[in-house]
Amino acid sequence: MDEFSWFMGAFRQLTGIDLARYKRPQMERRLTNLRDRRGFSTFAAYIQALEADGTLLNELLDKMTINVSEFFRNPERWETLRELVGAMSTAPRAWSAACATGEEPYSLVMMLLELGCMGQPILATDIDERVLERAAAGRYDPLQVRGLAPPDLERYFSFDGREYQIRPQIRENVRFQKHNLLEDDYPTALDLIVCRNVLIYFTDPTKQEILERFSNALRPGGLLFVGSTEQFFGMKLPNLAPVAPFMYRRLG
Ligand SMILES: C[S@@+](CC[C@H](N)C(=O)[O-])C[C@H]1O[C@@H](n2cnc3c(N)ncnc32)[C@H](O)[C@@H]1O
Repeated sequence: MDEFSWFMGAFRQLTGIDLARYKRPQMERRLTNLRDRRGFSTFAAYIQALEADGTLLNELLDKMTINVSEFFRNPERWETLRELVGAMSTAPRAWSAACATGEEPYSLVMMLLELGCMGQPILATDIDERVLERAAAGRYDPLQVRGLAPPDLERYFSFDGREYQIRPQIRENVRFQKHNLLEDDYPTALDLIVCRNVLIYFTDPTKQEILERFSNALRPGGLLFVGSTEQFFGMKLPNLAPVAPFMYRRLG
C-alpha cells in the first residue's frame, strides 16, 4: 500500500472522513503541501502529530475542504432560481448542503422573504463544525459582502464599522447542523436542494451516489441547484430532468 493510501485509512479512523471518495490528485497535492509546510517528511509522522494536536488537525480540515463562499454566487443563476421558486405553489422546504460559512442559506432566506414564500427554516449543513460556527455567528467582513447592493446590505445587516452582522430576522430562518454527505442520512420531502461547489471534489461514483440520494430526498417537482462548475457528463440523472443550466427537477 502506498503511503497516502495508508494515511487515508489512519485519517478515517481519526476523523471518520473517507478521503478515498474525494478526487485523489488534488487532495494528495493539497495535503502533501501542508504536511511539508509543517515540517513532517512522512504521513506517519504527520498523523501522530495530528492525533496529539487539535490545532494542527483543524488546519488540515480547513485545507481539505475549501470553505470559500459568496452571497448570491453566480447572480444570473440565482435570478433563474428566483423565477423557478416563485412559480412554486407553496413555501419550499429547502436544504443548503455544504453551506460553508452561511452565505448560501442566508441568500436563500433573502430571496424567499422577497418572494413572500419563507416557510419553515432552511436546513443548512456542512461537514466542518468550525465553518458552521462562523455561519451561525453571521459576521462578515466588507470583502465578503461585496456582491450585495448597498440597499440590501442595509436591509439585511447591521454594520459596526468593521464587520457586517446578519440581522436576527434572517438568522432565525436558518437551522445549521453538522452533516456529512458521504455518511449521514439525508432529509426527505424537500422542494429545494442547493448543493454547490462541493460535488467537484468527489470521485464520479461518489457523485453518482449523491445525485441518487438527492433525487430521493426531493418531492416530485422539487429542484436541485448545483454549482456552475459542476458537470455530470456520462452520468445517469436519476429521475432528474435539467430545467435550466445547473438546475434539475425531480420527475414524478
Ligand atoms: C467551496 S465550499 C461551498 C460553499 C457553498 N456551497 C458555495 O457554493 O458557495 C465547499 C464546502 O463543502 C464542505 N464539504 C466537503 N466535504 C463535505 C462532505 N463530505 N459533506 C458535507 N460537506 C462537505 C466543505 O466543508 C466546504 O464548506
